[in-house]
Amino acid sequence: MRTLGIETSCDETAVAVLESDGAVRFSLISSQAAVHAPYLGVVPELAARHHIEALPRLLAEADHQAGLASVELVAVTRGPGLIGSLLVGTCFAQAYAWGRRLPITGVDHLEAHLVSPFLNLEGRPARPLPERTLSLVVSGGHSSYFRLDAEGARPLNRTRDDAAGEVFDKVAAALGLGYPGGPAVDRLAESGDPQAFAFSVPRIKDPPGSLDFSFSGLKTMVIRTAQELTPLPLADPASPPHAVLDLLASFRRTVIDWLLAPLDELVRRYQPQGVAASGGVAANHELRRRLTAWGWRTGVEVLLPPLSLTTDNAAMIARAGQLRAARGRLDDPLTLRAYPRASWKKTRGQ
Ligand code: KG4
Ligand code: ZN
Repeated sequence: MRTLGIETSCDETAVAVLESDGAVRFSLISSQAAVHAPYLGVVPELAARHHIEALPRLLAEADHQAGLASVELVAVTRGPGLIGSLLVGTCFAQAYAWGRRLPITGVDHLEAHLVSPFLNLEGRPARPLPERTLSLVVSGGHSSYFRLDAEGARPLNRTRDDAAGEVFDKVAAALGLGYPGGPAVDRLAESGDPQAFAFSVPRIKDPPGSLDFSFSGLKTMVIRTAQELTPLPLADPASPPHAVLDLLASFRRTVIDWLLAPLDELVRRYQPQGVAASGGVAANHELRRRLTAWGWRTGVEVLLPPLSLTTDNAAMIARAGQLRAARGRLDDPLTLRAYPRASWKKTRGQ
C-alpha cells in the first residue's frame, strides 16, 4: 500500500511517502534543533507547538512533490516519546485518515528504527528482512541489541543507566558544544588521538555474564577529566585545545568499544544472517567504520541506514507501518492512542 508516514515523537517533525514496495518516494524532516539549543535539551511544550505549525507545511510539500491523492495507508508514531509531541502527530494522522477514509496504523518508534537499515534513498524497493538479524538500536533514548525475525523483535540487552546518545549529548553540553551534541563530538573526535586516554570498564556483576551496557560512569569521568584540562564551558567550542580533542576521540572510541563488546558473543548465540545498526548514534563515523570493518573480518553482512535515516524520520515509520499492515494490524482512527513510555513487552504484540 502506498503509505504516508508521520513522525513527531520528539523534536523532529517528519513526513514521508513510500511506494507499496517500500521505495522512499519522499522524506522530509523539519528539525527543531535551533529552537531547543538555548535550553541544552528538548522543551516539551515548545516541541508540541512547533509540530502543530510544521505538519501542515510538510504535508503540503509531500503533496506537491509526491502526490497524496493515491495514498492508501497512514502510518504514525504512537510512542514512546514526549506525550505532547506524540498527541499532535497521532491526532493529525487520525483526522487525516478519518477524513479521507484511509486505514491507519500506529507504529512503535523503536520498531521503526529497527527497519531503517533496510531502506535506501535511491528509489529502490526496501530490502526484505533476512530470516534473522541482530540489530543494535543506539539513540538518545536507547542502547540495545535486538533479535529481529519472523516472531518480531526481542531486546537482548539494555543500558543500566544512560543511553549512548544521551552520554554524547551530556558530555557535549558540559563542554559547551551545544545540543544535540553527538554530531559535534563526532566531528571534533576526528582530529584527536583515540588512544590518549583510557577509561575503566564498568563491571556489571548481576547477573554474571550480563551483556548490559552502562555509560553514566564514563560520562562523569570524561567531564571530570575535561575540567582538569581546561575551564568549562570551552572558551572557543569551534576549536578546542588539542588535549580536549584527544579526550573527545578517546571518549568516542570508548563508547564504540563498549557498544561493540557484546557483538561476537551475541552473533555466536544467535547466528544472524546480518548485523544492523540504527538510531541517531548509527550516524557516528567511528561506529560505522568499525562495524563495517567487523563485517569484512567475519564475513557477516553489515546493514546501516543512509545517514539521513539514522536520526528520527518518517520513512522508517511508513515502512514499519507497511509491515504492520501486512500482518493485518490496523487501528481505528477514532480510538488510536499515543503512549509515552517504552514498554517493549506491552507494545511488541500489538
Ligand atoms: O534517533 P534519534 O534522532 O532520536 C532518538 O530517538 O533518541 O537520536 C538522537 C541522538 C542524539 O543523542 C544525538 O546526539 C545522537 O543521536 N547522534 C550522534 C550522532 N548523530 C546523532 N551521536 C554520535 N555521533 C553522531 N554522529
Ligand atoms: Zn529515534
